[in-house]
Amino acid sequence: MTDTQYFLQTIQSLLNAPKQGEHDPYRPVWHFAPRVGLLNDPNGLSFFNGEYHLFYQWNPLKCEHGAKAWGLATSPDLIHWQHKPLALAPTEDYETSGCYSGSAIEVDGKLELFYTGNVKYPQGGRTAYQCRAQLDEQGMVTKLGPVLSLPEGYSGHVRDPKVWKRGKHYYMVLGAEDLQQRGVVILYRSTDLHQWEKCGDIYGTDINGKQDANFMLECPDLFALDGRDVMITCPKTWIDSEGKATETFDVEVTLGELDYHQAIYNATGSRLMDHGFDFYAPQTFEDNKGRRILFGWMGKPDEFEPYQPTIEYGWIHQMTCPRRLTILNGELLQQPVEELATLRRNPLSGTCLSTSLVGLSAELLLQDIDGATIAIELSDDLSLLVTPSNITTRRKNLKTGLWEDKAWQGKVSSLQLMRDHSCVEVFINDGKAVMTSRFFGQANSSELQCGFRFESDKAVNYQHWTLEI
Ligand code: FRU
Repeated sequence: MTDTQYFLQTIQSLLNAPKQGEHDPYRPVWHFAPRVGLLNDPNGLSFFNGEYHLFYQWNPLKCEHGAKAWGLATSPDLIHWQHKPLALAPTEDYETSGCYSGSAIEVDGKLELFYTGNVKYPQGGRTAYQCRAQLDEQGMVTKLGPVLSLPEGYSGHVRDPKVWKRGKHYYMVLGAEDLQQRGVVILYRSTDLHQWEKCGDIYGTDINGKQDANFMLECPDLFALDGRDVMITCPKTWIDSEGKATETFDVEVTLGELDYHQAIYNATGSRLMDHGFDFYAPQTFEDNKGRRILFGWMGKPDEFEPYQPTIEYGWIHQMTCPRRLTILNGELLQQPVEELATLRRNPLSGTCLSTSLVGLSAELLLQDIDGATIAIELSDDLSLLVTPSNITTRRKNLKTGLWEDKAWQGKVSSLQLMRDHSCVEVFINDGKAVMTSRFFGQANSSELQCGFRFESDKAVNYQHWTLEI
């Protein structure tokens, strides 16, 4: 397909979009979601030309995965997003199966885009090219083609370049799988963004003491923050002690040090970055105020995607809210960016054992709740249970109708719940842990406008706002 054919098909898909807007009970108000088609990973996050840039993996033609394009939206404030023309369409020989994930870096007044050209062979097997493109200040994208082909010693799964600059070098990490199907992160460097030299495998199974086995580490991110080098990876699969592989699509984070000379990432241990049902492939960037900001895909590539009812409205999946990352006393914190507080309206506060709060786009703060047992209901298919030693999200599976649990173990002192119609982000203890989930039951609920209802065994101090854009 040529670019023109792809663009025309995208326009057709948009023109035929099913009923949306106010009739769509699931559409988020202040989270980014596609008008049509399937959205997954955030890509190319940056502050460029006076605006935030959010590129994203997009199939504008169907609510299914497939040969992805890069969509683009820009914003002056991380809240109000404007859709921009499609940035990259999978139209060249080196990207026939998709312009896969990647990142952006501003150099000499242009936004340099790095992404993976994914090629699946009709007879089976695949290869991957790391490609370069440029966005200029007029919003035009020029593809410069591959800068790296598949390195030796890896399967066809080598992708998701994240690029940064340090000193006179540019660095790139790639997520990969070696020939023994072990997930690794590879480090490259360059002085001109075009010739890339391999530094080594810096992280992964059997490297530098890391033992847990997993296939393929997707979407690596590596950045300096508050004196540490933070590594985020997305292990697709966990292999248990009996060798059984399960696709989990978890996100792991570790705080360590990248030794640029030895090309090794030194860290001990890692932890889950999110404890909810829907969080994958996050990416971070540093904005013009020096903040490290993260967006994640509020979804996972699983067998339940086709059951999401937004498909009836022509779209599927959304981003998380922008979250600021900081490190406090050696712990990584994730908190909604302060701009989101400007959405607060209709403040309500009180101390009580139970209450129902109106608003499907709303924020609820519960403070000093140590030791309490609190049941919080958001819809007839999602609730939270806080006990003195943990918090659990309970959600009804879209396919089976059975209840499933995801828990975070620890004492819960405070909760900040950010709800936007069919999603909730739960920030525990000022962002020390997060639980992110989608749910779709409110359309069947008897109290349609009730966003949070809670019942506690001890009086709880709460603050509540509706969030309006
Ligand atoms: C993660 C991922 C990436 C890939 C992209 C394709 O969700 O599988 O590894 O680049 O999605 O859309």
